[in-house]
Amino acid sequence: MKKVEFSKQNILPLDIKEVSKIIKSGWLTHGKYTDLFEKELRKYTKAKYSILVSSCTAGLHLSCLAMGFKKGDEIIVPDMTHTATAHAVEYTGAKAVFADVDPITGNTNLNYIKRKITNKTKGIILVHMSGIPCQIEEITKFCKVKRIKLIEDCAHALGSTYKRKHVGNYGQTGCFSFYPTKQIATGEGGAVITNDKQIFLKIKRLKAFGIDKDLKERKKAGVYDVKSLGYNYRMTDFQAALGFFQLKRYKKNLIKRKKIAKKFNKLLLKTKNIKFPKYSNDNSYFIFPILCKNRDNVLKFLKKNKIFTSIHYATPLSKMSFYKKKYKLKLNLNKNSLIYAKSNISLPNYPKLSNLEVEYICSKINQLSKK
Ligand SMILES: Cc1ncc(COP(=O)(O)O)c(C=O)c1O
Repeated sequence: MKKVEFSKQNILPLDIKEVSKIIKSGWLTHGKYTDLFEKELRKYTKAKYSILVSSCTAGLHLSCLAMGFKKGDEIIVPDMTHTATAHAVEYTGAKAVFADVDPITGNTNLNYIKRKITNKTKGIILVHMSGIPCQIEEITKFCKVKRIKLIEDCAHALGSTYKRKHVGNYGQTGCFSFYPTKQIATGEGGAVITNDKQIFLKIKRLKAFGIDKDLKERKKAGVYDVKSLGYNYRMTDFQAALGFFQLKRYKKNLIKRKKIAKKFNKLLLKTKNIKFPKYSNDNSYFIFPILCKNRDNVLKFLKKNKIFTSIHYATPLSKMSFYKKKYKLKLNLNKNSLIYAKSNISLPNYPKLSNLEVEYICSKINQLSKK
């Protein structure tokens, strides 16, 4: 085996041909592919509204603004996530409060959330780690009763469902990432879905400088009003085209991911010293996560055998200097998050990963576990 990459995009020569056509056309942003990709996202997720943005971080930031989070508010986020989840809260002046996670899935749950609730809690951002849907129904119910806003960070979860409904539809908004390692890649890029018209209109304005009319709505070029502060969080049209073509084929991509996950599941089921969440058809398998002791040894061994992996994530956010110092956080705030951070490895999962490669990865892990 030459080497097994951690991630490979699903971009075809035809996509590249179309993208170069767009670049040659001179219409690089505000174009038809932004509309097409947004429409395709609505069709795929069954959300009423969708807005393309320049990254998932931008989508999370705009969602927090649309929720009205501000200084003095506390927003609960999982301790085990990308720093973008908490940063989005901090951009608004509100405080990110870190909840512990399940030691196998890496997802937070109602139990851990309740421990962090205070009378300042105004919102929760849930993360569907590795594509595994959170126990979202009970959290949604809790939020309704407590009048707490819910944002879903679906950066890992395009194609993940809970009770047959696409994730991102349970909270006030759902935010997706199209970073190069994700299920769909546009370079940088993201999207927000929502089923609330007012939130949609707010985010649409916020993403483009607070301007009251988009290009198509303007009667005279250059004539518009600015009714509020806004940002430039647009996605370019050639990125939108890349995303659109990949999403059109995504059903097949997802079937392949699930097949690969089933194979990992089967070949690693009896492996000593490793654990992983049990197979679920609701999971879109951004990666195949495993938990192991002596992670450094395993990583070294896999690398020696030219198997490339990743870690999501190696440090709980409560241990990151910025948050630790700002909020004077306890050394080991969330026990499970620490365990998860020390033991998780992300094995590759993408449609181009061959059966032989999966078998090779598993044989190496099995070989190590017998040592
Ligand atoms: C859980 C999570 N949220 C948010 C982000 C930020 O996404 P982006 O890079 O599109 O801003 C990431 C990035 O990987 C992530 O893993």
